[in-house]
Amino acid sequence: MKKTKAILIGAGDRGARAYAPYANNYPHELEFVAVAELNKERREAFASNHALTDDQCYASWEAMLRDNIDAEVAFVCTLDREHYKPTIAAIENGYHVLLEKPMSPDPEECISMVETAKRHQKLLTICHVLRYTPFWQTIKKIIDDGDIGDIVSIQLNENVEIMHMSHSFVRGNWNNSDESSPMILQKSCHDMDILMYLMNQRCKHVSSFGSLMHFKESNAPEGGPLRCLDGCPIENECPFHAGRYYLGEGKGWAKKFTSDHSREGIIHALNTTDYGKCVYRSDNNVVDHQVVNLEFENSATATFSMCGFTREQTRIVQIMGTKGEIRGKMDENEISVFDFLTKHETVTHLNQPQSGHGGGDEAIVRDFLREVRSDQGDDSKSSAAVSLESHLLAFAAEASRRNSGKVIDIDSYFNRKAEA
Ligand SMILES: NC(=O)c1ccc[n+]([C@@H]2O[C@H](COP(=O)([O-])OP(=O)(O)OC[C@H]3O[C@@H](n4cnc5c(N)ncnc54)[C@H](O)[C@@H]3O)[C@@H](O)[C@H]2O)c1
Repeated sequence: MKKTKAILIGAGDRGARAYAPYANNYPHELEFVAVAELNKERREAFASNHALTDDQCYASWEAMLRDNIDAEVAFVCTLDREHYKPTIAAIENGYHVLLEKPMSPDPEECISMVETAKRHQKLLTICHVLRYTPFWQTIKKIIDDGDIGDIVSIQLNENVEIMHMSHSFVRGNWNNSDESSPMILQKSCHDMDILMYLMNQRCKHVSSFGSLMHFKESNAPEGGPLRCLDGCPIENECPFHAGRYYLGEGKGWAKKFTSDHSREGIIHALNTTDYGKCVYRSDNNVVDHQVVNLEFENSATATFSMCGFTREQTRIVQIMGTKGEIRGKMDENEISVFDFLTKHETVTHLNQPQSGHGGGDEAIVRDFLREVRSDQGDDSKSSAAVSLESHLLAFAAEASRRNSGKVIDIDSYFNRKAEA
């Protein structure tokens, strides 16, 4: 097998920790030959993990692309609003691209990426990692084998988990849609994508409700400080107290905002970064709960609910077909299929995968590299063209939510001709 050479743009949590370890684990398949990362510490850590010399390390992707590095693929793992330009430039420079989701917070940019990849005949795969997990692939196969007949309706719940909500979407990188993306795109584009994947139908109509109900200034404790460590009067009653959480059970999350994992290092970060702020005063505006209703071309329906107020981080699905029903719980890797005729229930417990996102983080890299090696110009399982459909759904859902739940006709909203 020919080893694929890669460059990485953005050696943050996803670039360095979710995808790059593939090159360490399978060095005969993948080798990183250059990295562009703004943060010196992260850049140096990546260089050391992947044996890169100084001249293979860049502080910006522009400088790296100017050097026309000999490689087949580029991993683009910067934050949401820094996806478009490096992706377009990488494609134009002749690389196949694996791009983190969401493609972009701007629908026009998403469309332009699809067109650019097509024009240059390059693979552009979006990291909708759930598609690559044994859990969702098993469910998809049960549906495609006809075991539950035609799908009539799907219910999908995304349980964000309360501390994950507070870390990522109240204090963290994705708390403000003006700087990143709205929650339905940022977090739940995975779910829009999975619904499209399972349903295998065009979506016609969408409506949505949701809001930021809890994590806002009006719920802040009276007389409480901006930072939890500055003497919060409700420290012992607040589950979100930054000191208690990040110095205790949330130590793992603290690794995402400080490389000094000592007690002193975490305290310093809590005094200087947004992760030490009161959850009720965090400049956040993304919703903490949202529901979406969808109607598909064949009149099947789906309902989706994202909620931050849950005890575990998981997805729960119920798929109702004309011949039977599927129920699944992703964190337990358990899938049940009930047959209406025989009244027989088959319960499958899949192995717990090793890599993140139910095994999806490793599987998407493996699949992408296979596609690069055998590229015939076909679309990948999670190509930009396929992903565009679910991104448009997310944009439409957000438009509906902002418009008091108005029903959006997808084709007319995006000015597209419905296919005959
Ligand atoms: N597929 C998934 O399930 C999943 C999960 C979490 C996050 N994400 C997505 O992954 C992306 C990255 O998230 P993250 O958690 O790794 O963020 P991060 O902040 O840890 O990493 C981003 C990195 O990009 C670097 N960077 C920014 N601008 C740059 C530039 N011009 N040139 C070079 N480097 C630059 C930053 O310094 C940072 O290290 C986001 O878009 C996020 O939505 C996807």
